[in-house]
Amino acid sequence: MFTQLNKKLTLTSSFKTAPNIGLIKYWGKWNEKEIIPLNTNIGVTLNPKDIFTTTTLTLNPESHKNELLINGKDFAISNRIERLFNIFREQIQQSKQLTCNRYKNSPSDKLLGQLIPDIDKYGIRVESNNSFPTGSGLASSSSGLSALALCLQDILKTNIDVRYLSRIGSGSACRCLYGNFVLFPGVQLNNLDKCDQETINLESKRCLPYEIQNSRWLKDKVSIVILTDTHQGQKDVLSKDGMKMTWETSKLIQGRVRQFVEQHIQELQTALENQDFNKVMEIIIKDSNQFHATCMDTYPPLLYLNDFSRQIIQMVHIYNRNAKNIVGYTFDAGAHAVLLIHNDELLSFKNFLANAQNLFTKSKYIIPSQQFWTSIGDGPI
Ligand code: DP6
Repeated sequence: MFTQLNKKLTLTSSFKTAPNIGLIKYWGKWNEKEIIPLNTNIGVTLNPKDIFTTTTLTLNPESHKNELLINGKDFAISNRIERLFNIFREQIQQSKQLTCNRYKNSPSDKLLGQLIPDIDKYGIRVESNNSFPTGSGLASSSSGLSALALCLQDILKTNIDVRYLSRIGSGSACRCLYGNFVLFPGVQLNNLDKCDQETINLESKRCLPYEIQNSRWLKDKVSIVILTDTHQGQKDVLSKDGMKMTWETSKLIQGRVRQFVEQHIQELQTALENQDFNKVMEIIIKDSNQFHATCMDTYPPLLYLNDFSRQIIQMVHIYNRNAKNIVGYTFDAGAHAVLLIHNDELLSFKNFLANAQNLFTKSKYIIPSQQFWTSIGDGPI
């Protein structure tokens, strides 16, 4: 979209995306710069109607400064966002060398053509707002960075791969580009111990996300409820730092990357293919627990789960005793719980939640805490 500001043209683009919550968790990078995961992972994209990030990118002719505002507050531009901006500017440099043919069709393309000669002098302003808690384990960076990648690609209109742009913003961000369950391949095990440039280039091209089409049946069957621990603020250790610490200090993560996580991937894919709801929930639960076991095995330990989270775990297992694995839970790098509930059990589980306080009377936490109800999403809108 174009508007005219003080007779200078302004170029702006906005996207709305929903977070993608890890179900088979991504934890660890084989290559830091290209953000190539150590393990293949799977996440579910939430419905952007209920829980979302809106990001607007504006090229500002009034300023040469880059700016990042999250929920109205100024943030420093991270190295990764800087890298995205550099790629953006490089692409613009290349466009300058092209003939203007590319920009003569639609009126907006013509305007872009007019802007190009000076475009690298413009400041880039990014404004991002979340409808849910930020930086506390609900994947706000996944939705924020995927929306930013979509804005950059929208303005550039080049064929630069938006999956790549999202991934180098934040690994889990590339999973937000699709709906349903999304698989993000990690480095191939036989390349795990290699680090030559040729292998990096090869893996960078290969490690791009796609929707698991066999997961579509779940959309009408499952509701997602997020129970947020209202006591929790921003997390102490960011995922990018935590995953590095785990890889450097935990022995369990070696077993997970080299063997166990691949088993979970295979089992989940088979369960999805067989439309086996209970098995899908079982694997999701087990993978969340295995991931947090590696966090505990990190030195010093990463304590993302707290009493609130543990009570939810206990509560779900109490409920599942009667209705076998009808509710699944997962926790990203934070205390908030993401529950997946079979729609047939929704009413009964809601009642159970409402009465759960009696089960945990000694607790300082009130269950249910702040809740977000949503469903599986179709990807960005
Ligand atoms: C626990 O995608 O936030 O949520 O690539 O460093 O930005 P970076 O990490 P990020 O890590 C997500 C970790 C996780 C698990 C998951 O989403 O699969």
